[in-house]
Amino acid sequence: MTPKEEIEQLRKELEQHNYNYYVLNQPTISDYDFDQMMYKLQDLEMFYPQYADPNSPTQRVGSDLSQEFKSVPHRYPMLSLANTYSEQDVRDFYSRVKDGLEGEDFEICAEMKYDGLSISLTYVDGVLTQAVTRGDGVRGDDVTANVRTIKSIPLRLKEGSGYPHEFEIRGEILLPWQNFEKLNEERERKGEQLFANPRNAASGTLKSQSSKVVAERGLDAYLYYLLGDEIPADGAHYENLQMAAEWGFKISRGMKKCRSVEEVLEFIEYWDVERKNLPVATDGIVLKVNSLRQQRHLGFTAKSPRWAIAYKFKAERACTRLNEVTYQVGRTGAVTPVANMNPVLLAGTVVKRASLHNADVMNELDLHIGDMVYVEKGGEIIPKVVGVDKEQRTADLQKVEFIKTCPECGAQLIRIEGEAAHYCPNDSGCPPQIKGRIEHFISRKAMNIDSLGPETVDDYYQRGLIHDVSDLYDLTVADICGFNRNRVKSAQKVVDGVKSTVNVPFERVVFAIGIRFVGETTAKLIAKHFKSMEALKSATLEQLLEVDGVGQVIAESVIRFFHDEKNLQIVEKLANQGVQMQLSEEQLAGRTDKLAGQSIVISGVFAKHSRDEYKAIIEQNGGKNVGSISKKTTFVLAGENMGPAKLEKAQGLGVRIVNEDEFLEMLAD
Ligand code: IVH
Repeated sequence: MTPKEEIEQLRKELEQHNYNYYVLNQPTISDYDFDQMMYKLQDLEMFYPQYADPNSPTQRVGSDLSQEFKSVPHRYPMLSLANTYSEQDVRDFYSRVKDGLEGEDFEICAEMKYDGLSISLTYVDGVLTQAVTRGDGVRGDDVTANVRTIKSIPLRLKEGSGYPHEFEIRGEILLPWQNFEKLNEERERKGEQLFANPRNAASGTLKSQSSKVVAERGLDAYLYYLLGDEIPADGAHYENLQMAAEWGFKISRGMKKCRSVEEVLEFIEYWDVERKNLPVATDGIVLKVNSLRQQRHLGFTAKSPRWAIAYKFKAERACTRLNEVTYQVGRTGAVTPVANMNPVLLAGTVVKRASLHNADVMNELDLHIGDMVYVEKGGEIIPKVVGVDKEQRTADLQKVEFIKTCPECGAQLIRIEGEAAHYCPNDSGCPPQIKGRIEHFISRKAMNIDSLGPETVDDYYQRGLIHDVSDLYDLTVADICGFNRNRVKSAQKVVDGVKSTVNVPFERVVFAIGIRFVGETTAKLIAKHFKSMEALKSATLEQLLEVDGVGQVIAESVIRFFHDEKNLQIVEKLANQGVQMQLSEEQLAGRTDKLAGQSIVISGVFAKHSRDEYKAIIEQNGGKNVGSISKKTTFVLAGENMGPAKLEKAQGLGVRIVNEDEFLEMLAD
């Protein structure tokens, strides 16, 4: 791969991960892996400045814009705050403000920093007219319909309370701890993926397509910033919020006007403990210069106000004994070490297990069984081991060595050059990997067998009914039911579901067979390029690299997959069961139904194709070429010098005129 191609591929992948994280709220890789990828791209971009791109993922910090909601501009940009972590940082902020105000007296309003997602609400004549997410700070998603279901957000303000004709109020949308826990319990019962923290849950909820779901989940909102042309310019932040409280808003709890840095530090110290009793997640304290005039005087840097700062609480930490390191094998065979410790109370929950990520992280910590280890819980629910109290280590303790063999199947582990994780290579004999591949095969975007789920896969596997995806096709109602006749109906559904996969198009079959690194998009690309499983099986590395979007890693993985005799046998068995092993006749002939049901008139002279070619193209795509314009004509494909009579007729009947480029664009993929 050339550096340019590698840069492009990394950008694509990072964009996808950004999307997974910020839009879907379902990251598929660890923060660590994401960062490594980002560093690699940053390095390459530094070395090859000729490929710079303002839209590269390195050039942006992330956005929560999603496709499903209308994107609207913010009237005033939504900025973020500079973060600080120490008492000294707070003192420095205080002195900067003091210097900036040239000796004038000032007050600092200290308040909770809520850990949810920010929202901007517009009110006109006391009525909520729009709710917009932060997005990239300049534009956000219009989530008004969903926000209207949040009970603590007033749809109409208190009559006669003196609110301005039009204003914006900003704040944070949160899912209270109690509702968060309830939601996760419910998801666990249903076998759905859990939310990592209340912030992700709130964000996922607010982006829900159904405002009914939003209403049921019980979101909450605290408001902390008032904006608008009618807000008195000589006023102050604290007083504004007290007014807003009168109008009907839920205002930040525990706000205090401080007149010295000592008072500020006292406030921080108090809330660092007391915040544990709050119903919602907080991750720090926000300090704001109170007077709006003084705020204007101090102004903004490019990213954040000079008149405000966020102090972030330190992650909570506990110390406990490490008893054992166990290992989990994931679906891809990746092995994750887990610390098992004496139970300890941390941020309100009892913790006894923590992820150690990989061998590097484990070695870095230099863990010994029996060590007293520090465990931290940041914004995430899964705690991590961050250090060892070496003073308490005795000479007899044994250093923990990363295992050499798979705890599930005993195979010798491998580590691929440049990758952090250890893998179990026994993909056809290792239970979590076998089940994982079957779960992938039946999933919605693959073969979509919705009568099967992870529990049934586990059950069938335990009972020895299935060992690889091709075994699904041998299942009979009798096998599934065993002695239990109550299962007949659901068993029949499973058998029918499996049978119906013979209609799944070839590109999804390529995705379903589970070639490592071949996602949905890549599967489509290679299916279209090679057209059949036969051709794909015998593709060389060079041929694979010819496919746009396929790099070295993917190409090698495809080769490796088809070099494995077991995979060949599975594919063969699938083919014998009637699973699609090539593109359909329609796809091969380039036929589509993009113009199905459309009557199209061709008129004029064309530059890119002849009239006959356009006729053929229309038919290939399911359209009908007709001679004269009528009410029933869908559109006229018009070249140069279209006859004036035809033009007039088309216009008279309101028939659309489409030029050559627009037409080809319609048919593009
Ligand atoms: S004031 C220009 N006050 O923290 C100042 N923000 O990076 C606007 N946040 O995006 C923000 N609690 O989502 C402010 N009491 C509070 C806050 C708060 C939480 C969030 C907000 C913002 C981020 C700062």
